[in-house]
Amino acid sequence: MLPYKNLIIIDKTSHIAVFKQIAVQFIGLIQKGKLLPGTKLPSTRALAYDLGLHRKTIMAAYDSLVSEDWIDSLPRKGYIVSPNLPFVKPRSYNSNGLSAYENEPGFIFDSLSSYINPSSPSKKHELIIDDGLPDTSLLSPGIMLAGYRKALDYPTLKKISTGWDLEGSLDFRNSLCHFLNQTRGIDITTENLLTARGAQMAIYLSASLIIKPGDKVIVSDPSYFFANMIFERFGAELIYVPVDHDGMCTEVLEELLKKHSVKLLYVIPHHHHPTTVTMSTARRNELLILIKKYQIAVIEDDYDYDFQFEYAPYLPLASGDHEGNIIYIGSLTKVLGAPFRLGYIVAAKKFIRSAAKQRLLIDLRGDVFTEQVVSGLIENGELTKLIQKANKLYRHRCHFAAELFAKQLGGIVQLTKPNGGMALWLQFKNDFPLAKVIANAKGLKIIGSVYSKERNSNFNAFRFGFASLNDEEIIKAIDILKTTIHK
Ligand SMILES: Cc1ncc(COP(=O)(O)O)c(C=O)c1O
Repeated sequence: MLPYKNLIIIDKTSHIAVFKQIAVQFIGLIQKGKLLPGTKLPSTRALAYDLGLHRKTIMAAYDSLVSEDWIDSLPRKGYIVSPNLPFVKPRSYNSNGLSAYENEPGFIFDSLSSYINPSSPSKKHELIIDDGLPDTSLLSPGIMLAGYRKALDYPTLKKISTGWDLEGSLDFRNSLCHFLNQTRGIDITTENLLTARGAQMAIYLSASLIIKPGDKVIVSDPSYFFANMIFERFGAELIYVPVDHDGMCTEVLEELLKKHSVKLLYVIPHHHHPTTVTMSTARRNELLILIKKYQIAVIEDDYDYDFQFEYAPYLPLASGDHEGNIIYIGSLTKVLGAPFRLGYIVAAKKFIRSAAKQRLLIDLRGDVFTEQVVSGLIENGELTKLIQKANKLYRHRCHFAAELFAKQLGGIVQLTKPNGGMALWLQFKNDFPLAKVIANAKGLKIIGSVYSKERNSNFNAFRFGFASLNDEEIIKAIDILKTTIHK
C-alpha cells in the first residue's frame, strides 16, 4: 500500500473542494503510473483515518473517480484502479521507458575501478578453493538454534534493542574480554574492547583514526591486500618490509624506521597472510623493542590466532610490553564461518572510545543480535569446544593437503607446511604462470588470494584454503591442478 498520507496533500485554504483535491491527486498517481490498473485502493474508512478527514469526503472523491471511469467499485471488495485504462502505461513517468537506474548517474563519484572485482558465481559442479575459511559444517545447528532462540526471547530482545552501548553489546564484550584474557594472555577490561563486523572493519576503523594523506605505513611484502587497500584509501604511502621464514624482517624494519617518519605498522604475526609464516619469538621481542623505541602505532592483525595446532600457542604481541601502542585485532568470523561478521579491536580506552564514534557513522548500532548469540556460545563453553574440534580437523587437513601437494606436484609447487591457520601458500614455478593454470583448471574455482604477474605481484602463488575441504575434495583439487599443469 502506498503511503497515501504523504502522497495526498490537502490544502484547506484552497477554493477547490477537498473531495475534488483528493480525486485530482489520485488521477495524477494513476497517470504517473504509481497506481497501476487493477491496484486496490484503501478503504474509505482507512483513507479518511490516514488523511484526518470525514469518511463522506473520501466517498465523494471515490464517487467522482468512479463516474469518470478512473476507478471501479467492486461489490464486497472495495475500490480498484480501473483495469481498462487504455492510456495508462506503467512507468509512464519515465520518458525513455527504462528504469531510471539503468542510466549512468550524472554526478561524479569515485568508482574504485582499480579495486578487486568480485568473481563470477561458481557453477554447480565447480570445487571452490577459498584462501582460508572455516568448515561451517562444524557448527552444530542445534546449538546455534538454541543460541538464537535465547537471544530472541522478549526480555533479551528488548534489552538489546533499547540499550545502546557505543562499543557493542555489553554482554558480548564482557564474555569476550574474559575469553581473550584467558586465551591470549592479554590483560584487558571490557572498556578496552570494541566490536566490529569482522577484522576487516576493525582494520578500517583503526586506520581511519590514524592515517592522514601522505602518511607512511609499513606493511610486509607481500601482505594482506585488503588491508593495503584500506591504508591507500586513506592516502597512505606504503613502505614494504620482506617476510622470511621467521616473519617480518625486523632488521630491515629498523633501517626503515631510522630513515622515515612512520605513522603505522601493520603486522600479522600468526599465519601471516598470504605466506602463512608464524613470527619467531626472537623477532617478536625485537619488534616490541622497536615499537617502544620509535613509538609507532601498530595494528596487530591476529585473524586466526585460535588455530595454532602444532604447539603451545605463541601469545600475541599485544600480550607483551608495548606501552599501549598495539591495536590488537581479531575475528570470530574465522571460527564461526564467513557469514558471521564479527570481529573486535583491543586498544587503549581512549582509542576505543574514538573508534566507537567512528563506527557509529557507518554502522549505527552494530550487529548486537549476533553479538548476543555469540556471547552465549562463549559463556556455555560451546565456542571453545568448536575451536578444539576445528583444530583437530584442520591439523589433519593441513598435513594431508601439504603431503599430497608434495607428492603430486613436488617439482612444480613449493610450500612450507604451516604450523597453524587454514591455508597453504603454494608457490608455483615461474614456468607455470598461475593466471593460465587457474583459467584452465576445469572444475576448480579459486575465490581467494592469487598473487601473479597479471595482478602486479612478483609472486606466482596462491593460498589454498584446506580448512573448508574434506579429504576427497583435497584429492580432487590437487588432481585437477596436476592434470591442468601436465596438459
Ligand atoms: C589477514 C586477514 N586479516 C583480516 C581479514 C578479515 O577478516 P574478517 O572476515 O573477520 O573481516 C582476513 C580475511 O581473510 C585476513 O586474511
